[in-house]
Amino acid sequence: MDLNTIERNDPDSVAQNAAVASAPAKKVFVKTYGCQMNVYDSQRMTDALAADGYTATDAIAEADLVLLNTCHIREKAAEKVYSELGRIRDMKAERAAVGRKMLIGVAGCVAQAEGAEIIRRSPAVDLVIGPQTYHRLPDVLARVRGGEKIVETEYAIEDKFEHLPKPKRAEMIKRGVTAFLTVQEGCDKFCTFCVVPYTRGSEVSRPVAQIVAEAERLADAGVREVTLLGQNVNAWHGKGEDGMEWGLGRLLFRLAEIPGLARLRYTTSHPRDMDDELIAAHRDLPALMPYLHLPVQSGSDRILKAMNRRHTAKDYLALLERIRAARGDIALSGDFIVGFPGETDADFEATMDLVGQVNYASAFSFKYSPRPGTPGADMPDHVPEAVKDERLQRLQALLLKQQQDFGLGLVGSTIDTLIEKPGRQAGQKVGRSPWLQPVIVDEKAGEIGDIIRVRITKTGYNSLFAELA
Ligand code: 5AD
Ligand code: SF4
Repeated sequence: MDLNTIERNDPDSVAQNAAVASAPAKKVFVKTYGCQMNVYDSQRMTDALAADGYTATDAIAEADLVLLNTCHIREKAAEKVYSELGRIRDMKAERAAVGRKMLIGVAGCVAQAEGAEIIRRSPAVDLVIGPQTYHRLPDVLARVRGGEKIVETEYAIEDKFEHLPKPKRAEMIKRGVTAFLTVQEGCDKFCTFCVVPYTRGSEVSRPVAQIVAEAERLADAGVREVTLLGQNVNAWHGKGEDGMEWGLGRLLFRLAEIPGLARLRYTTSHPRDMDDELIAAHRDLPALMPYLHLPVQSGSDRILKAMNRRHTAKDYLALLERIRAARGDIALSGDFIVGFPGETDADFEATMDLVGQVNYASAFSFKYSPRPGTPGADMPDHVPEAVKDERLQRLQALLLKQQQDFGLGLVGSTIDTLIEKPGRQAGQKVGRSPWLQPVIVDEKAGEIGDIIRVRITKTGYNSLFAELA
């Protein structure tokens, strides 16, 4: 999958739910692994559970229900879940000793991939639920409370989004001024390294009306910036309000009309689905942020072919030229895999070469990790771990240098910043640049939700410092 992961900040977990003040009987603790689509799903599961009387807690020991929303994209993901389950099992036993129940649920892509095997290996688990059936969570839980163990990993025929309860306005406000909105799920591309087509199923696009309604609700709750999500977000297509088939470009034009929504983004994209209308959106829509995550994975045509990416390095570079012609200040981000089976030194140098030509503002790079059931896992000539390590180090050093140069290049310039939250240090607030960098400003520079003009004064490791312009 091409989804921009959050691993840069924390390899293991993100987005643990904040506690909710009023405390009815049941509490749920959700731990999220992996990509933003899981972050979004965790919120929607929390919404579904709120309708069932659960409030979120960030204290696992007091939870009546612990839900792990898991990721299966790379190395040892399943093993991490099993060892976490071992720890949670002990807590469950401690709670049982004082007469209190703790239910344990596994959701997400490991749930989908492993199914009943999870309960076999971790008998303390009460339910296993795949990503397409979250709307059935309250029903499933009712049965679990009746003593059943449940594995729910069939792809549902009904649309989960249609059936998931909408978050309450107060809850949305608490979630802040930026939000994710899943518009598309699944993937039909079958890159040979990737498990997504098997865990998330084939491509499904949400209808325009549903997306617009959700975006309007977000805007109404004070959200200023929406990131449209999909494993293959630019393959999104659906019947528009005019009865015609729309693509993502058209959808972005429509969303830009919603009052209050000042910024739009989308992730993650496949190079083959960047059509003219989407490129035109980058040219014509000021609300569409000049930042594009467009994974290429490798710079070697031989490896791209083995990966079934169905484009060459040259195609990718030519595409970037068209995008840059449309929007001069666009910054690029990407994903890379080193050590795909059969990757030679020359193939790897081709990747280094491509990175040198593109100049990325940020990027994610990974060692190839064979995923059971994918064609790549069965290919000959797997690359030794030590070689992968060495290549990854070299690639990451280059990408880090490019990222830092990009930040340094902004020093002295004036940019728009969306103020997002209080800073870690007193007297500061943190904003977000058009290119997703955190921007540290004085707390008096503006209110959360404001978009202010600032001058960049210096860079931090991963952030920018700025003063009001
Ligand atoms: N091994 C290593 N990296 C992978 N990715 C996806 N599958 C694998 C794998 N088997 C990376 C790709 C993708 C990102 C989300 O994760 O670079 O774009
Ligand atoms: Fe992305 Fe390819 Fe995986 Fe589809 S199969 S999610 S395009 S990496």
